[in-house]
Amino acid sequence: MGVMILFVLAVSGVTGSPSVTFKPETASTGISTAPNSVPEMTKKTQQEQLLEVEIPEEDVMETGELNPSHYPAQRAAKVVQHFLNTRYGSPFRLFGLQRVHSGSAEDVADSGRKYHLELTVHEIISNAAQTCSAEVLFPRGEKQQAAHVQASCEELLKVNITSQEEALYEQFRTNQSLVSAEYLPDSHGHIQPQNKPLWHLGIVASSFVMLKESTENSLYNMAQVANITLLASENDRLKFDCHTLLHEMVSQEIVHWKLQFTWSPAEGVSVLQMEQLPHCHECEKPPSNN
Ligand SMILES: *[C@@H]1O[C@H](CO)[C@@H](O)[C@H](O)[C@H]1NC(C)=O
Ligand SMILES: *[C@@H]1O[C@H](CO)[C@@H](O)[C@H](O)[C@H]1NC(C)=O
Ligand SMILES: *[C@@H]1O[C@H](CO)[C@@H](O)[C@H](O)[C@H]1NC(C)=O
Repeated sequence: MGVMILFVLAVSGVTGSPSVTFKPETASTGISTAPNSVPEMTKKTQQEQLLEVEIPEEDVMETGELNPSHYPAQRAAKVVQHFLNTRYGSPFRLFGLQRVHSGSAEDVADSGRKYHLELTVHEIISNAAQTCSAEVLFPRGEKQQAAHVQASCEELLKVNITSQEEALYEQFRTNQSLVSAEYLPDSHGHIQPQNKPLWHLGIVASSFVMLKESTENSLYNMAQVANITLLASENDRLKFDCHTLLHEMVSQEIVHWKLQFTWSPAEGVSVLQMEQLPHCHECEKPPSNN
């Protein structure tokens, strides 16, 4: 087997494929359909080479005091933003990360890695800001689980948005069939003022996905609400369908998610369903090799 691998390495060294990228689905196809064929082995070996190069970089995470402007602290702090949106977000309340002041990371035996952060969070609509402490635990395990977050930023909840929420709720209920929008923001970065509450709702719903998907090695930002539609609702909660585009900054990928969620002033936003749609570069043909 060792000889075989050496041989294949030599071959791949000679043919020199310049455009090999790591794709898990190719690896599984190679194993299940043609375990002995040389071309598949070549692919697999190239991936193993890539993995050997990539894993140490990704796996060794910094411990102890962190540089607050570097990725590890920034990624953990971004998770706090998504968490606050899932907890307290509304068409009239939306959180952003302004600054990380300090951070540290530690390995917690058996459970994962925990980040302690001091950060300034702002509430985008009222433009209020507050320094808060937060803890983010990324659980360890076979299956990726959402980070556990604790954060206290109560000052940012002081603006009373009840009457604005009630008015919007009434407007949506009475004009149900008219409530929909697409491309928030549009390609010029513009959003019609009347669509802003829908945009904010789309961001809050997307934060549930970003909180669930975030790891120590990712950094999710909202890219666009492709479309959002109010569905006919049978109870007090308004139900929306939403198609959202998220920007994963580390891989530079845009990921598409389809969401169904509810909103009411009393209960806030709850996500009923979330489904990731295929990556666009998987639907399209790969670029020509010629
Ligand atoms: C917010 O304002 C509403 C009236 O618009 C009032 O009924 C409610 O008690 C206020 N909530 C808080 C927490 O002050
Ligand atoms: C419903 O839509 C109509 C027409 O756009 C508008 O005149 C009316 O004010 C809306 N109702 C509410 C409660 O906003
Ligand atoms: C929503 O946007 C996505 C992505 O652009 C598109 O594939 C989908 O058909 C749209 N859905 C509706 C109902 O417009």
